[in-house]
Amino acid sequence: MVLLLCLWAFVSFAFAAIGPIDTAKPALSRGTVVNAAPPGPFFQDFKPPFPTTGWWVGYAAAPSQDSVVAGPFPYMSRALDTGIQFGISNTRTFDGTSVIQTTQMDWEASYVQNPNTHASHKATAWDTQSVTVKYFASSDVGFTTYLVPGSPYMTLNYNAATILLTSRNGNILSINGQNIGNSPVSVTGTRFTVTNSAGTYVVYSLGGSISLSASQTTLTGSSIFTGVIRLARVTAESTSQAVLDQYSANYPIGVALDYTFSGDTSVMSFTYNVVGNAANLLHLSWPHHRKRLVNPNLITGLSYLTTKGHMKPVIGNVWKLSYALPTITWLPPRDPQASCIQQIIQALEYEIAHLTVAVPGDFYYWGKSFQATARLALIADHLGRQDLIPAALTVMKQSFAYWTFTNQTTYAAYETAWGGVVNGPGATDPNVDFGNGYYNDHHFHYGYMLHGAAVLAKYDSAWWKTNKDFVTAFARDIGNPSTADPYFTVARCRDWFAGHSWASGIANGGGSRDQESVGEAVNGYYGLILFADIIGNQDLKNWARLLWATEVDGAQTYWHLYPNANDPDTPYPEAGLRSLTTIGNVMDYQAGAWLFWGAQRSEIAAIQLLPVTPINEDMYDAAWLNGVWNYVSSELVDPTIGDDWKSIIYMAYGEVDPQTAFARSTNITGWGGLTTSQAFLIYHLATRKNPAGGNICTAAAANPAGTFTIRAPNGKFVSSSASSPNLVANADAGSSFLFAFMPGGGSIQNKATGQYVTADQNGAAPLAAARAVPQAWENFKVLQQGDGTYVILAGVNSRYITLDSTGALINNGATVSAAAKFTLTTTSSLQVVS
Ligand SMILES: *[C@@H]1O[C@H](CO)[C@@H](O)[C@H](O)[C@H]1NC(C)=O
Ligand SMILES: *[C@@H]1O[C@H](CO)[C@@H](O)[C@H](O)[C@H]1NC(C)=O
Repeated sequence: MVLLLCLWAFVSFAFAAIGPIDTAKPALSRGTVVNAAPPGPFFQDFKPPFPTTGWWVGYAAAPSQDSVVAGPFPYMSRALDTGIQFGISNTRTFDGTSVIQTTQMDWEASYVQNPNTHASHKATAWDTQSVTVKYFASSDVGFTTYLVPGSPYMTLNYNAATILLTSRNGNILSINGQNIGNSPVSVTGTRFTVTNSAGTYVVYSLGGSISLSASQTTLTGSSIFTGVIRLARVTAESTSQAVLDQYSANYPIGVALDYTFSGDTSVMSFTYNVVGNAANLLHLSWPHHRKRLVNPNLITGLSYLTTKGHMKPVIGNVWKLSYALPTITWLPPRDPQASCIQQIIQALEYEIAHLTVAVPGDFYYWGKSFQATARLALIADHLGRQDLIPAALTVMKQSFAYWTFTNQTTYAAYETAWGGVVNGPGATDPNVDFGNGYYNDHHFHYGYMLHGAAVLAKYDSAWWKTNKDFVTAFARDIGNPSTADPYFTVARCRDWFAGHSWASGIANGGGSRDQESVGEAVNGYYGLILFADIIGNQDLKNWARLLWATEVDGAQTYWHLYPNANDPDTPYPEAGLRSLTTIGNVMDYQAGAWLFWGAQRSEIAAIQLLPVTPINEDMYDAAWLNGVWNYVSSELVDPTIGDDWKSIIYMAYGEVDPQTAFARSTNITGWGGLTTSQAFLIYHLATRKNPAGGNICTAAAANPAGTFTIRAPNGKFVSSSASSPNLVANADAGSSFLFAFMPGGGSIQNKATGQYVTADQNGAAPLAAARAVPQAWENFKVLQQGDGTYVILAGVNSRYITLDSTGALINNGATVSAAAKFTLTTTSSLQVVS
């Protein structure tokens, strides 16, 4: 019976459009692992794969399978042994950073015969949005509840059981207007209004007249009942009861997701499976739905304020939502502007020559560098520098190969308790790789990998032949379109009703979900687009484009804030929140301008922008970018704020004003954390729409190149040796230094020792020739002055070099007037310096 029901659910709700990417056992050299927090008896009639990110995953996730979960909205709920609890938050506050909707339970639905054991409730079916839960005693006595997000009613289908509704929010105050005192009140009918501290609910019986006995804490049926009852929360609108009454007879039991594609447009449909009159289904929409619904039959008179703003009613069981799909695949749709090409090539040659093989210590950081290297190969191709591609690919292949070795402590494995590809050691430790083994962040992590692997595949078919099966497992993990894949849940991270993905998985009891890096979610689906393109599967590519377009729409609706917008349908009516320009973290019960890890405005903005890629020009709208630019402007000129964050903001701002973005970017020496690349930054700006026209790039003031002695204003020459690496102007001859190009400036190398000059980030210690490899701390701008002398600016803290009382060179001059003026003299490369 149960299995039949489940089959029926999948068959009749199956979304037709697209088959699985693959159905084979994932080909991972390290085999399988088992998550230390397997699902509870909720899934007793099913085998993995199970959803790991859906709103109801907390019904099944450890430790106790009874987390408060965010749904079915407008309700939040808990599946306890004693019954299903639900409520609607009455309290929304803005604390200066976040809007917070306090969690609350109003009622618990159960039945008198409930054995109250952990195994006496279970899932009987689910689809991409809803879940059906059955509470049962022996011989099917109990009730089934269809938990469909968007329904203003909770629906309970009783079978040979005695109704038991328990107040979870204070005592029951009244029923049908009669106060409840010490002795119970009996009422009979098909419709009741009942109040407790939460407010008023209407209770409907669709199974004929019932009698309820109301005590201060419970409503109990007078007899065994078979039939449907529904509960709905009355709202502040005077008409809300009438609206709820009018549509109470028609209830959804599930929803089918489908989609059609026509050129660069997709119409996604939600078709609710309704018992009753389907055309008269009353269902609630969020702001992102109302932006995209095609010809919706919207009515007024009922609304619920949730974290995502007001839910408002739509009549009818078929929703069609229209999305414009992205058209960009590998490269931006414009060639790089001529004004920038020389600088792009100079940086690109340097960066490709200095690539190092990233040994995987996790998926996240490894993936970022894998994708970044892939982008360098694509840029080289776009610039006609195919000669530079092989070096990038070689480094990528060597780095990727670690995943296929069997001797690494970081490895990929198929996890069998829930069903998915994980960081193997993470399966028993949620602190590994940002919780990857607990299904956190998979779309972030695997999007980077798919992106890099697709680029490798594009240029190296032999590599692809060998590695395709391995990579395909990752595409299936985040982008499986079909229930016909026996190893992976459908679109793991996507919440189709919420209109975006969630990063959190089963850690945290599956409750209180969050996503604080929407740009990386978008990038995850970009990786899937490139993967689909490589395997030549147009259906899959369209599905990936739809995932991308919907995620972007979610970002624009719930992450991007428009301080001056007067949108009556904004999810965030609080002007104080909207003035914060960008949400850092969207969660189930709060949304705010904060991060788990950083408080700077530029960090909060940049993590929603990154990684900046060509396809994102459809995600960054000008109104929001201008807001971000103004909001972070004081940080952009603050040398204590990291260049990596600034570089991301400059890249994205290139949509609005690439000239200013370029000018600002000439001052930085870091380009986006581990994805660091000046070539990519300039290339990105060089390929923008350039609304104002004209040159985007201006010639950079290059450091002098060659071997020089450095004479300080005290008349002495700068020296440094292996035993005294500090640079001190105290010599009559001095050391020879090799000045060479680096992106953002240049390096200064002591010729005799081979060591590169490094600067203290705090400008407290003297410069020292003490690094074997030049990186950000070893990057200087050497700027010629009108009198022919030079001042030197340390990239790491944007401070000029001065001399201290001992003649030591130190990067602590705030302005050029404080800088020491040096004379550089070319030395013969044969000159021996003692
Ligand atoms: C790990 O395995 C690879 C592939 O077999 C091999 O090349 C490498 O040397 C091994 N590394 C160690 C540390 O044993
Ligand atoms: C670059 O930084 C210097 C020193 O902090 C500053 O004077 C200059 O205005 C900056 N240039 C741009 C384009 O931001």
